[in-house]
This record gives sequence, C-alpha cells and structure tokens, in this order.
Amino acid sequence: HAAPHAAPHAAPIVVASNRGPVSYRLDGNGGLTAGRGGGGLVSGLSAIGPEAGAVWVCAALGEGDRLAARRAGRRLDPADTGGQRVRMLDIPAETFATAYNGVANSVLWFVHHLLYQTPLEPVFDAGFREQWAAYEAYNAAFADALAEEAADGAAVLVQDYHLTLVPALLRARRPDLRIGHFSHTPWAPPDYYRMLPDDVAAQVLRGILGGDRAAFLTHRWAEAFAACCADVLGAEVLRVGDRLAVRSEGRTTALGVHGLGADAGFLRERAHRPDVEERMAALRKQIGPDRRTIVRVDRTELSKNIVRGLHAFAALLEEHPQWRGKVVHIAFAYPSRQDLAVYRDYTAEVERLAGEINAAWGTADWTPVALHVKDDFARSLAAYRLADVALVNPIRDGMNLVAKEVPVVSDHGCALVLSREAGAAAELGEDAIVVNPYDVAATARALHEALLMDPVQRAERSKRLAAAATALPPARWFVEQLEALSAATAGRAG
Ligand code: G6P
Repeated sequence: HAAPHAAPHAAPIVVASNRGPVSYRLDGNGGLTAGRGGGGLVSGLSAIGPEAGAVWVCAALGEGDRLAARRAGRRLDPADTGGQRVRMLDIPAETFATAYNGVANSVLWFVHHLLYQTPLEPVFDAGFREQWAAYEAYNAAFADALAEEAADGAAVLVQDYHLTLVPALLRARRPDLRIGHFSHTPWAPPDYYRMLPDDVAAQVLRGILGGDRAAFLTHRWAEAFAACCADVLGAEVLRVGDRLAVRSEGRTTALGVHGLGADAGFLRERAHRPDVEERMAALRKQIGPDRRTIVRVDRTELSKNIVRGLHAFAALLEEHPQWRGKVVHIAFAYPSRQDLAVYRDYTAEVERLAGEINAAWGTADWTPVALHVKDDFARSLAAYRLADVALVNPIRDGMNLVAKEVPVVSDHGCALVLSREAGAAAELGEDAIVVNPYDVAATARALHEALLMDPVQRAERSKRLAAAATALPPARWFVEQLEALSAATAGRAG
C-alpha cells in the first residue's frame, strides 16, 4: 500500500538538515557561485556518496540559495552537490532568518553550549514568542517536504537543533516512516536546560521523542538528553546493558551514540594536492625558519573559546621567554553567523586581541600571531600538515572534528592540546594534553608542554590520535545510524 503523500520519485533514505552540502553566492550579474559550507555536520554528511540513494533536504540560507532553489525546482544541480540528490527549501526569508538566527543559533545553541552568562541571560518575552512561532513554521515546512520526499517506510534522518520539532511533526503526517534524530551539538544538563520556557523545553524534547531514535556524538550528551526528559517530562529512562531509551507518554524512543570520525581517505588525498602545497610554502615563509607553530582552525564562534586561546598564547610568551621569537601561533578564525551582533563583536575582539599581542611581543622579523579570517579549506589543510601543536580549546563542543583531522593530516606528527569539554576528548583524551578551557594559565602550561614534547613521543601519540580519530569514518557513521534505526523499528507494523 502506498504511503499517503509519497511522491513518484520518493526515496528510501531522506536526510534533513538546515545547512546542506552547498551554498550559493550571487555574483552581481545574475550568476551563482556554488561553495561548500563549514561545520562538522556538512563534513560528516558530505562523505555519504550518491550511491547511498538518499535525498538530502536542506534550507536556502540566503539570497543566492533562494535563487538557486527557485531555478532548480525539485533538485539542485548534481555538479554543485558532489552528485548528491539535494532539495533546497525556499522558506520565506523572514521566517527562515527568525528561526535560524533568533531561535536556533541564539537560544538553542546558547543553551546547549552553556554560553549564557550573567547579565546576558535570555529574556523570553512576547518577541521570543513570535520567534518561536517562526521556528515552528520552519520545522513544519521541513516536515511537509520530508513527507513528500520519503517513500513508503523510508528511513528519515533529521539533523540537529534547528529541526527538533520535525520528528513528531513528521510522524503525525507519515506514521509509516522510520525516523531518527541526530544532535551534532552537546546537550545541556537539566538545570541549565530549564532556563527555556517550560512549554518550549517540553516541546523540543517531545519533538525529538516523536522519532524512533535519538542519537548523539557522545554518551555524555545522550545522558544529558535523557536527564532532561526525566526532569522536564517526567519520562522514564530505561537501561538494558549499555542500551539507553526514554519512555514518555506511551512511546519509547531509543537513544544512541555515534562518534563521528574523520574521513582519512578524503583528507589525505585532498591535503596533498598542489593548492595545499602552495599554501604550505606561503605559510612557511610567514612562519620563518626554525620556528615552531601552534595551529588553531575554527569558525569564529563563541563556543570555540578563541579569545581565551589567544590569552593562553600570550601567557606562554610571558611565562616562558624561551619561546619569544621562536613560535608562531597560526590562528584561522573563519566568519560565522555574522547576522548576529554577538558574533560580530566576538570577531572584532579576536582581531583586536591578536593585534594587541603582536604589538606587545612582535619584533621586526617576528609576528607572534598570524590571524587569518578568510575561509580557505586548502590553507587549513596546509596548516594541519605543518602544525607542531594543535590548539582545540572549546568551552563546549559536540565533537570538534578539527581535533580529529589534524593528527590524520599532520606530516610529522603533532601534539594536541584539547579541551575536556569537547566531545572528541572522550575518544582522544589518552594521547592529547587535556585542559580545562576556562583555565588560561593551565592552557598556557599545556602549550609549553606540547612544544617541549620529544619528537619521537609526539609522532607516536599523533599516530594513536589519528587511529582513534578515524575509528568511525563518516560513511560508516551514517550506515550505523541506518542499521540502528532498523533495529529500533524491527517488528513494527507497516
Ligand atoms: C555546527 C552545527 C551545524 C552547523 C555548523 C555551521 O556544526 O551543529 O548544524 O551547520 O555548526 O554553522 P552554520 O550556522 O554556519 O550552519
């Protein structure tokens, strides 16, 4: 029997996320230039080749995307998407901007990354209620499109905090579907999560629990989600061995953990192309002879803790004069979410502080901080290859793929200074130097220790880091979720 709304070309696997594999810029003459967006979600999902037979539903993010979506109709040009079948939703600009900037990236992102601090806690007033209505409309637009795209009994994998209401909305439209949700962020602990208005806190949890399965990057985030369900909804948390599930309002939703790893094959091949070699030469020139390098690569994102990272570098120069003139901190901080004033201010603070450190410590032939803010993937890979030390110090991070990518690509093995609050620390903690991201003095000591690490030991640790970082490559990560979703829905009618 055919599903109620399935389209003729409906797919057996449908993926949904806010950001898709491609974003379009207007070039001024009515032309469109396709580019790839940053962030762990796109890195992970892009490794799923066209052979998986999936349709990827995403949102148009800006004017360029909107034009491309309108021109393309149902599917974007496969040449722009790496061959993926991609449908881009042209959600009204105002609704999209309010849902994305106002709710997803301000409220939900801030809650899960514990970014609200006195006196900047949120105010949930009438204005927020309007934003919330836009978030509901944006989620409903996705649910409608997914209900159209999914074949009878299809597996639908919904991604991230933008789309928390989709699983329940989609189940109401298409009870035949098998629905999973995956969070690429941390999940907030209950005391912090309850900052949300009670009904919103409950609606988000019920939205996700409307699926058959909810999955996370680490056990810590899965446990926090379960704790929120117990606390806010009075749900029962079920444990059988290491299997976790939540029972609430007559339904059981399985919880799972899939620690997305780095794509070694893709990264190593990409990192040895001529454009990367060129950038290595340019970076070497900038660094100068006989100097060590500390590398960081981030979106300019509050949770990435770039400002404290720069303070730690300054403290290293202050406390350990031996490094003056002998180390360059290569900091790539790529623009992100610049529609939000706090992000623009943060970007300005990063630039100001880098300038201040250079003015305080720099000499005629040594610039201590090489800050680059223009997104350039080839240059990121060049820095990965050259790095002596990688600094990954987020306040809180779902996983952090940079921590996993650097050891995989590094030419001579690299020491990793890693925040204990990054999901990656659960897998890389043994061979990284683990720090409390708020503790600038401890981070400076860790950088010193990393710079002094014996090269043989460093190479060995880096190798073990690379092995742990690639334990679950993206393609496998995706298949694991499909298998687990099948297992969670086995025996279900339909
Ligand atoms: C994180 C989120 C992703 C998001 C990415 C980039 O990794 O989990 O969902 O796509 O950041 O952020 P942006 O707002 O540019 O999509």
